[in-house]
Amino acid sequence: MNVEMLSSPIRIGSRVAPNRIVNQPMECNDGDASGNPTELTFRRYRSLAEGGAGIIFVESLTLSYESRARKNQLKIGEDTATRLEKLVKKMRQSNSESLILIQINHSGNLSQAAFSKVVSPYPTGDPSIHVLTEKEIDDIGTQFAKAALISKQVGADGIDFKQCHGYLGGEIMRPANTREDQYGETFENRTRFFRETTEKIKKAVGDDSFLTGVRYSFYEGIPGGFGTTGPREVIEDFSEPLAFAKMVEEMGMDYINVSAGIPPITPEIVRPTKDFPEGVYRHFGWTKAVKDLLKIPVIGSGYSYLRNGKNNLKEPDPPKKSFTYWAEKNLKDGLVDLVGIGRQSYADPLFAKKILSGEIHSIDFCTACGGCSLLLRSQRQVGCTVYDDYYRKVLRRVKRGGKREGT
Ligand SMILES: Cc1cc2nc3c(=O)[nH]c(=O)nc-3n(C[C@H](O)[C@H](O)[C@H](O)COP(=O)(O)O)c2cc1C
Ligand code: SF4
Repeated sequence: MNVEMLSSPIRIGSRVAPNRIVNQPMECNDGDASGNPTELTFRRYRSLAEGGAGIIFVESLTLSYESRARKNQLKIGEDTATRLEKLVKKMRQSNSESLILIQINHSGNLSQAAFSKVVSPYPTGDPSIHVLTEKEIDDIGTQFAKAALISKQVGADGIDFKQCHGYLGGEIMRPANTREDQYGETFENRTRFFRETTEKIKKAVGDDSFLTGVRYSFYEGIPGGFGTTGPREVIEDFSEPLAFAKMVEEMGMDYINVSAGIPPITPEIVRPTKDFPEGVYRHFGWTKAVKDLLKIPVIGSGYSYLRNGKNNLKEPDPPKKSFTYWAEKNLKDGLVDLVGIGRQSYADPLFAKKILSGEIHSIDFCTACGGCSLLLRSQRQVGCTVYDDYYRKVLRRVKRGGKREGT
């Protein structure tokens, strides 16, 4: 099958990605007790580097260990910089062309009370959740800037300022955020944290060749969620997601990565499965709306379910519902600039290399079985439970109710 568009390079800011395939950020909860990458982390990223995707995102790194979503989440801080530098160096040793971008995050209300402090930018009705003060929000912005600088110092090509999937950056932008100070109610106020923090990040890294971008959820699918018509509404409305996309470009960001949903609440929006395969088309539509508006490169999400056409989409001709067919078509039709794979990068870290060299028959295609997501929800080390023996055993232990690894 033709891969002309997929294999073409693309300029991102002042840098060039060698092809149009993106390994989306995929967190694996396999850090040590201080949030450093472990041998398991090194093994994963070495394989991804070998895979040669145009962009390889390093998963969601927490900038706060006090508030985090995963017990063994990787952390970005001065104390983890040495090991992160080694990680980036090892990746570059097997592949010097892919762009390596680190996703930086604060988990906000999705932080887990079992081992960390749950915080929210607006009152949730649960008195045990601390509502951040204006000063605390401003301080978190400063922490993002510090994390961006560390990302640069450890040798990454750029950062992804995480605004997606219900974590702090996305939460604060929701219409449900009706706090009455400068960070709530109006769209202008709800996006103030993004603008202020972006300015701090740019000042901290002080270098245009270091890429900055954003991943955001176009529609969260909860009442008052981002992309709805109001604080208690669930009806989808494109106006704020598009106004935000424009803001991302106007703030001088180099790319935008369009996702949707909140994994623990609306997982079927984030990742299409056989229960709602048409979810892939919704991702195409959201990305197209952003692409129609912006000049900076737009990355699309949710492509893993397409596989080699063996999926439940209502198209009688399997080649016309495969990853390659849709990726080439969407790139050619100008609906998107790069296509992102999430679960597929667990199932086969060499996916990009194999697709681009026509070795489709040797690809381990993601079956959308949900095994990896179950591991994440269970606070285990995460990987593909179908094709990787190590994670298959971890899953078996979870199902038997066994002890957590890495604790
Ligand atoms: C286990 C797991 C971990 C994930 N970790 C991250 C993450 O660290 N950052 C992020 O932005 N998205 C994360 N995602 C979402 C994926 O990047 C992706 O958007 C989602 O899986 C849908 O794409 P796909 O259909 O290609 O898998 C994760 C998804 C899964 C299943
Ligand atoms: S565990 Fe299942 S859903 Fe996850 S990557 Fe492997 S095949 Fe895909």
